This record gives sequence, structure tokens and C-alpha cells, in this order.
Amino acid sequence: MPNLYWKNKDKFEKSKTHETQMSYPFQVLESIKNPTINKFISDIELIQENTASNQIPQFKVNEWDNLLIWGDNSDVINSLIKEFSNKIKIIYIDPPFATGSNFKFKTLIGENDAFEINKAYSDIWKGGIDEYIDFLYERLVIMKELLAEDGSIYVHLDWHVSHYIKLVMDEIFGKENFRNEVIWAYPAASMRTRRFFIRSFDSILFYTKSSEYTFNDDPGIYMEYSDRVKFALKEDDKGMFYYRGGSHNGKKLSQKVYVTNKGIFPRDVWTDIPYIRSNTLEYQGFSTQKPERLLRRIILASSNETDIVADFFCGSGTTLAVAEKLGRRWIGSDMAKHAINISRKRILDIYNSNDIINWEKKYKKNPNPFQILSVNKSIQKGKRKTQFQDIKFEIKILKDNKNVSIELIDYFVPNLDLIEKKLKRKIQSFSDWIDSWTIDFISQNSYFNVMWISYRTPKNRKLDLTSNKYYYEKPDKYLISVKVIDILGNETTQNYEIMID
Ligand SMILES: C[S@@+](CC[C@H](N)C(=O)[O-])C[C@H]1O[C@@H](n2cnc3c(N)ncnc32)[C@H](O)[C@@H]1O
Repeated sequence: MPNLYWKNKDKFEKSKTHETQMSYPFQVLESIKNPTINKFISDIELIQENTASNQIPQFKVNEWDNLLIWGDNSDVINSLIKEFSNKIKIIYIDPPFATGSNFKFKTLIGENDAFEINKAYSDIWKGGIDEYIDFLYERLVIMKELLAEDGSIYVHLDWHVSHYIKLVMDEIFGKENFRNEVIWAYPAASMRTRRFFIRSFDSILFYTKSSEYTFNDDPGIYMEYSDRVKFALKEDDKGMFYYRGGSHNGKKLSQKVYVTNKGIFPRDVWTDIPYIRSNTLEYQGFSTQKPERLLRRIILASSNETDIVADFFCGSGTTLAVAEKLGRRWIGSDMAKHAINISRKRILDIYNSNDIINWEKKYKKNPNPFQILSVNKSIQKGKRKTQFQDIKFEIKILKDNKNVSIELIDYFVPNLDLIEKKLKRKIQSFSDWIDSWTIDFISQNSYFNVMWISYRTPKNRKLDLTSNKYYYEKPDKYLISVKVIDILGNETTQNYEIMID
């Protein structure tokens, strides 16, 4: 079988498993069980004031929290091997495509329409395609170890590198385990070129770990009939659908041709899923965000409820949100903090998103518990540093007997000179800096237990500056932790002691 050869390939010949790689402990940054959320509180039947510790929605598989992991996925997947080897049912990845550009995300500011465009991640490879292949090869080898024996992997790419990575996939997963190259064709964006045909599809390489793999003929994966067929469909008195047609020996017939009403079983060319538009509910302001309906087809086809679905380049969290709505367990990771922040808010706000089966309706369920972890490399390499070390905020503790609420009253960014003028001009009040803020009313100091949160989403920009009341049952001394995440992704946590008599 022909193999692909690239510059540093030799180094991999010796180390094809995780055994030569470093594994790190995970550190829990946040645990999110059943937070009281300021938004749409009247809609949320499950969440009531002061019930932060009860009514935790339990996942069907006991003791499981979904995982959102901040870190380079090379460290993440190596560190997951110990617990998750052969356990993950689907891995979907949508890595950078080696486009040679920087990708952006929209930083929305305050309650108005103000925004700034910031760099999301770089897709520029100094070592060229060789470096890119190195990067992906190393990770795909370990991902294979994480996949269950009946598991599937979907690698989302485009014309830049899909042809190289197909050879790499053949080598790692075996040519015999190739199932499809799915062409996701979308209406072309307005390209000016008249020098070649407009490029308007992505390729999704679908491989399985073995020949015994899960693949469901689920009504949810079907493609809709074309408008022409839909128009021609008629219903008979038994409720069955048919059209008149067929032919014999070149002659047109007018027989009833019966069809199932769920559409057609998907081909490998998907033309029925539009690209994300900014006026949709699912839009997160993340330039490479993929449609939830794309992930719905993949997840329904290749997994069952409670199976584990992973996306190690999770970006705005599309895979995680769809897995959540389809009752799958999920693991997501991204090395960009703002991607983790967007995914976190997207899962928290899932109640208000589209229902994944009945798209016209809202989902209207709270998320299952999840944790935010980071790969704790600090043990080996010293703490991460950010540019903004000394951010502070000010709060007021509003105490009424055993009921306590917190008001956020100010936010200080000391090194303002590091911030672009354009952005500074758009900030009208201290709260315009804030993207979300969170309270742990009974902090144990080991990790942050999110008990109340207020956050802005692209569709709802309002931020509550006073929290709901938390009721302390027993008199004691407590520690309250407050965490603020600003629009640049800076995260600041402050602790306060409080006496309840
Ligand atoms: C194309 S985007 C994914 C978009 C995602 N499918 C969505 O629907 O929003 C690629 C993501 O991979 C992340 N990424 C790139 N290199 C990474 C690495 N080594 N480890 C973890 N994440 C990485 C980027 O930060 C970016 O968020």
C-alpha cells in the first residue's frame, strides 16, 4: 500500500503509541451541577432560588460529569488514555485546515451592538504542510487508542489537506476501515474569482476502528426529499405517501410509487445543511463554527444514548451541545481559553437553544452536570502567566439574615495601555468589560462550584449585576468565591469570608 512520507515522519516510526508521551494530572477548575442562572429564570421550571444544592439532574450513567478540558489536545488525549482507552464511541474533530490564515471571533461588548474582532487561533504553519501533518498524525495515533472497538472517527477538513490526511488515516486506521468521504456542500460564499471554480465543500473523512461498528438507520439522519419530490408527494387514505411516476422500456408510467415519509437515506454528499448564519439561534460569533445539524447526523448514526462523544478541537462547542441534546456523554477540549468560555456558556444556555430533533422548538432542558478541567502542567513547568495579572473587581455583600446576595459594583483593568484604543473607546461602563460572573457561596477552595452565574450570549446581552439570594441553613463561617470573566477572556477570582449567625 502506498504511504505518505513527510519531513519528520521517521521520528514517529519509533513511537506509535502513547507510551512515549507525557501524561499529566487533570485539575478541576469548575464543577457545574445545577447552577441558578439569572437568565429566563421564569422559564426554567427545574431551577428555583436557593436550590443550588438539590435537584441535580442526574445523568443515566451514575457518577458521570461531562468534561470540558482547557489545554493542548496532545496533552489532553495522552492524559485521558489511562481512563478512557477503548471507551470513546465517536471522535469528531474539526482541526485547523492549514489555511495559512488567522481565525477570528467576535468580541461583543456590553448590551449594545458594539463588537471587536479578535484573533481566535492561528492556522499558519511555519514548517509548512510537513509540520501540519506531524501535528495531526501524532494526535490521530493516540485518538485511535481512545476509540472503542465499535467506535468511529470523523475528521473534518477541506481541499487544503484532506488528500494528505486521507493517506495518513489509511495508514493509522487501515484502508479497510475507511467508510466514507462525506462531502458537505454548502452554497458558495460570494467569491470574486473567475480564475477557477468556486470552492464550496468540506470533506469529512469517516473511519471506524474495526469492521464491527455502530451505524444506526435512525430517522433523524435522513435527508429531506427535494422540493420537487415533496411537491409531488400525495397521501393515500392509509396515510402512506406516494408519487405518480416510474417508467418501463423508456415509456413513462403513471403508477403510484410509495415512499417512506422520513426522507431519503443519506448519500455521502450532504447538500441539505446550510452554513451558520448570524441571525440564527445557534450562532456563537465563532468564525469556523459548524452547524448543529451536521453533528446531529454524525452522532445519531454512529452512537447510542449515553455513549461517549469527544471533540478535541471543540471551538464553540457544537459537538458538545449536540451530544448533550441527544443524551450522549461528552468530552471536549480546546487550547484557546475563549473557546472554552464560549462552549461553557453554550452548554449552560442550552435550555434556550433549538431542540435538535424538532428544530422549530426550543430545547427547554437544563444541561447535565459538567466539569471544566485543565491539564495540570504547572507541576512540571511552572504556572501559566497572562498579560493581565492585576485585574481586580469590587463587590458588595448584601446580607439579610441567612440570605445573602452579591452585587458586582466595579471592575479595574490596571494595564489599560495593553488594550487596543478602538476597543477601549467602546467601553462605556465597568460592566461592559464583563462577559460572565459566577459565585460559589460555600467555597471549599479546592475547585470552583458554580452555584449562580450570569452571562451574556450573542442573542441576550443583558447581564445581571446582583445575584439571586443564597440561603445558608446553618450558622457558621463561610468562604464565598466570586469569579469574573471579561470580554478578553481574563479570569479573576476573589474570595470573601462571611459569618452567618
Ligand atoms: C475549526 S475550529 C473548531 C470549530 C468547531 N468545530 C465549532 O463548531 O465551533 C478549531 C479549534 O481547534 C482549536 N485548536 C487548534 N489547535 C489545538 C490544539 N493543539 N489543542 C486544542 N485545541 C486546538 C482552536 O483553538 C479552535 O478553537
